[in-house]
Amino acid sequence: MRILGIETTCDETAIAIVDDGVNVVISKVASQIDVHKQYGGVVPEVASRLHLEMLPIVLDQVFQESGVSISSIDAVAIAALPGLAPALATGFAYASGLATNLDVPLIKVNHLHSHVWANFLDNKVNYLDLIGKNVICLLVSGGHTQLIRLMIEDRSLTFNIVGETQDDAAGEAFDKFAKMINLPYPGGPNVEIFASLGEYKYSDLPKPMLDQDNLNFSFSGLKSHIYRMLQDDPQILESIQSRYDLSHSFQRTISDVLIAKSMKAIELYNAEYLLLAGGVVANKYIRNSFEQMCDTRGLKFSAPDFKYCTDNAAMIAGLGYIKSMEI
Ligand code: KG4
Ligand code: ZN
Repeated sequence: MRILGIETTCDETAIAIVDDGVNVVISKVASQIDVHKQYGGVVPEVASRLHLEMLPIVLDQVFQESGVSISSIDAVAIAALPGLAPALATGFAYASGLATNLDVPLIKVNHLHSHVWANFLDNKVNYLDLIGKNVICLLVSGGHTQLIRLMIEDRSLTFNIVGETQDDAAGEAFDKFAKMINLPYPGGPNVEIFASLGEYKYSDLPKPMLDQDNLNFSFSGLKSHIYRMLQDDPQILESIQSRYDLSHSFQRTISDVLIAKSMKAIELYNAEYLLLAGGVVANKYIRNSFEQMCDTRGLKFSAPDFKYCTDNAAMIAGLGYIKSMEI
């Protein structure tokens, strides 16, 4: 089954074609980052207008570069909630118009669940191998941080949230921290570069909720702690090495918290498999730290290919395949 996926939940206009949920024929992402950068973050109405402009252009590129015949598309999948309302509305209107023109079904998929599906693209992990297994997934994106118990059957996936952030998401924390140390939007990738040049000099940063016996997260206290630190000692920002060291320490603190809570979930549910998902998993330090931890504990581990960690439409088309079977 050949599905064309469309993603417009935030600031990427993406279209992809995926066969049978996992074989990516083509995946194109047109990023709006350069426009939103000047505002220091994503402006929903601007994102919506740019999606409208870019969707027909990206669609043309997808068909021209892949050589796929438009008549071979069996269904259109569109990323529905969660996302920015104006951006979602534009994508939905475009996708439903396309599905109507092609006379194929329109399948709405959950954007967060599709991040998890990114692990199965190009058969990095065969989802059929996970049927009946005890799987925990950590989803860390710009707007969400969730621990999920994933139940996989051959025609359906069930997502049970067992822990989540009480305030900021991990990606949001990266973006806000970047602003505090004068790094441009999007924060995550820029903080990672700075962190790679620093050391763990600020080892006393708070690790919120680590001592609590639950699977929830909180990152706003860490953000406020750093804010106060920078108010009390503005000199930190004047030294490039201090900014590197603070970035490194911040990244490690987030990583330590994510790992500790994930391991707690794995123990509680006796899981044998850990899947990572979402934009923050593009961070090599976090990814490698998880991989090492899983190796040590003999746990099976997967994270999506780098190009499928952040927003893309291949994950939308992929999840659309399973959803089409549920209909
Ligand atoms: O999953 P995603 O692409 O979009 C949402 O659905 O939110 O995640 C975007 C988030 C942003 O907060 C961004 O700063 C973060 O992922 N991110 C990173 C890295 N690349 C993207 N965070 C840390 N390190 C990275 N390399
Ligand atoms: Zn996303």
